[in-house]
Amino acid sequence: MDFLNIYPNIPVQIERGKGVYLFNDSNKRYLDLIGGIGVNILGYHDRECDEVLADTRLTPHLSNYYLHSLKEEIAKILNNLCRTESVFFTNSGTESNEASIKFAWKVNPGKIIAFEGSFHGRSLGAFSLSHIFLHQDFPRIDAEVEFARWNDPENLYCRGKDASIIIFEPIQGAGGVRVMKKECYKVLRELQLQGVIVIADEIQSGMGRSGKFLASYFEDFQADIITLAKGLGGGIPLGAVCMKENIASNLHIGDHGTTMGGNLKALQLSRVVLQKLKGHLMAHIRDIEKNVISEYRRDLGMRGRGLFLGFDVSNGAEFARIMRGKDYLVNIIQENTVRLLPPYIIKEEELREFFDTAKELI
Ligand SMILES: Cc1ncc(COP(=O)(O)O)c(C=O)c1O
Repeated sequence: MDFLNIYPNIPVQIERGKGVYLFNDSNKRYLDLIGGIGVNILGYHDRECDEVLADTRLTPHLSNYYLHSLKEEIAKILNNLCRTESVFFTNSGTESNEASIKFAWKVNPGKIIAFEGSFHGRSLGAFSLSHIFLHQDFPRIDAEVEFARWNDPENLYCRGKDASIIIFEPIQGAGGVRVMKKECYKVLRELQLQGVIVIADEIQSGMGRSGKFLASYFEDFQADIITLAKGLGGGIPLGAVCMKENIASNLHIGDHGTTMGGNLKALQLSRVVLQKLKGHLMAHIRDIEKNVISEYRRDLGMRGRGLFLGFDVSNGAEFARIMRGKDYLVNIIQENTVRLLPPYIIKEEELREFFDTAKELI
């Protein structure tokens, strides 16, 4: 194989997608509960996204040497949604987190706190802050990094009181779909007042997936920096670092950069995605939470919020295999946790049927 295949492959040959469904090479239809790991929030072949992709008037790439009205337009929308003042565009979640660490460091260099169970990306900076990779033997950044216990407010305060930067996921994804407790937000607020820069990694939990644009809004928490990616570019690589003025005003020409970050095709698609989110999709997710998820939460021991959900099974690989036979594609993390990140256009009855099938198996 010429392609370096270092992924745990799902044994289906997907040929195409339509709406919330994927089809294999013999036209078998699967309900897609993986959603390109949370990227395909509008499903497959959204009409307006297809129109943007077919539109050749705008060149996909210029260079960040040039200003362009699209960058300003999307940055303004994101600043409104994130209650921030400035946006830096990237190509991915990892790059957003990398940039966020540099930006925070410029204001407040020193000890960085991440959490047990965290995942922030795989480049060396983000990797160094990812607790789930602690066993991997690669070089780590030369900053003091500590991991606070997840959902333990005392431990967070104890480690955070002499820290400079804290990075957290409002809902841990790869770590097992775990929602941060209210009490931890109180500590984050307190530490922020003491001058700690707080970065909310909303790469998986943001973009409306929880039913609010940012999952940290459930506790009305305002981070100094918010990182986004995944569905932001409608399937084309795009990430964003949304920051408060005290961070942005400290950054100058040459401090950071990217060749492709914020490419125009991705920004054009993000305009469609953001319009649809504001239109009805977040309300749809909140309805699903109220009408469907609340009904199954107890029976399945379900964690998470909105369309970012997880529950444990006794044998993850076997569960996924049986579900494929029943026309469902699910993602297994941490061996036995089923993580659901379906497109937002999934219907209540589609999700209900999936949960009923899952319940029979558990
Ligand atoms: C919370 C979180 N941070 C960072 C990343 C890294 O994003 P990317 O794979 O786009 O680099 C991910 C990806 O799953 C993520 O879930």
